[in-house]
Amino acid sequence: MSRQKILSVVGARPNFMKVAPLHRALDEREGVDSRIVHTGQHYDEEMSDVFFRQLGLPEPDVYLGVGSGTHAEQTARVMTAFEEVVFDEEPDVIVVVGDVNSTVACSLVAAKCHVPVAHVEAGLRSGDRDMPEEVNRVVTDQLSDYLFVTEPSGVDNLRAEGAHDEQVHFVGNVMIDSLVQFRKKAQQRPIIEDLGLGGADYALMTMHRPSNVDHKEPLTEVVQMTRQLADRLEVVFPAHPRTQNRLDEFGLREQIEAPGVHLLDPLGYLDFLRLMEEAAVVVTDSGGIQEETTFLQVPCLTIRENTERPVTITKGTNELLSLDPEAVVKRAEDRLGQARAANGRPDKWDGHAAERIAEVLLGEG
Ligand code: UD1
Repeated sequence: MSRQKILSVVGARPNFMKVAPLHRALDEREGVDSRIVHTGQHYDEEMSDVFFRQLGLPEPDVYLGVGSGTHAEQTARVMTAFEEVVFDEEPDVIVVVGDVNSTVACSLVAAKCHVPVAHVEAGLRSGDRDMPEEVNRVVTDQLSDYLFVTEPSGVDNLRAEGAHDEQVHFVGNVMIDSLVQFRKKAQQRPIIEDLGLGGADYALMTMHRPSNVDHKEPLTEVVQMTRQLADRLEVVFPAHPRTQNRLDEFGLREQIEAPGVHLLDPLGYLDFLRLMEEAAVVVTDSGGIQEETTFLQVPCLTIRENTERPVTITKGTNELLSLDPEAVVKRAEDRLGQARAANGRPDKWDGHAAERIAEVLLGEG
């Protein structure tokens, strides 16, 4: 049998922990040439490089360096650069993960070049097309030949949109594969001590959705929420560059830097994982963190109107709240006093999702 060449695409921070276990599972198999293409959507040390090092990813085989821009600019730059890669590399399969602009851009190129597309984390739907990620998900799934799903809702959504049963594979969650692999290593990081938090209850916060941070009014509410939470417990807030830029632009940085608030630059994978595992409560608008806290059974308050990951609510520790500082602080207090949920973990979130994907892609089993 000839060697199968599989190109996996990474672009933005939440992609790296998904591709790392998959690349490992593919690379250790005979007859597979597994290559990584980094689009450069995220490019900073803290948004990209530290993840490669900590997750043991090799240097990307191809780096496209597209950088930031409007949605159309960024997507178009990825497409133009990635098309050349597909012409040069002639892959047998292209793997895309998640829902970022690089995901949709590369799946579109692959489909036009008649290369089979595998989408990892297919089928998630918030039903909210105002979210750029929702548009990316719907389009990517329509173009994909292999649909690898993390939770049962994904299978239902794909069926309802007309996907064929043979395309849909419920394999579990590759991001949890990374968490399982690196949890012990993360527990050895001294980040909690370095922040002077030893023994204190703290909330871990992240906030970067355009709807929460791109306009002055919601971002002012985020600042209020942070300050009010900090009246009750320490708040650790590693802020995404988008959020930091907006805090400066709207003149809100001084207001958020109140006593008890640790406003930090983005953290690497291992420091963030330790902070998440030991947090009293997590307050976020991220997609992936809803899943990681579910696995770790840490209370999670998600500041969004909807979630594309309903299993984190039905089975996990997550709940949705609107951006209302009083309500969030009240709910955080309630959750602090509660015993951690012991209702198990979502099916197939067991550290072996990448293996299952490799088996399907290579026709094993
Ligand atoms: C992207 C994803 C989002 C994901 C998030 C995780 C899309 C549509 N959105 O949003 O789903 O949750 O990544 O981080 O793909 N910037 C830097 N350094 C970097 C990267 C970005 O400073 O390495 C700044 C730039 O000012 C840029 C801004 O962050 O304009 C936003 O970056 P962008 O890639 O456009 O979207 P994210 O908000 O990061």
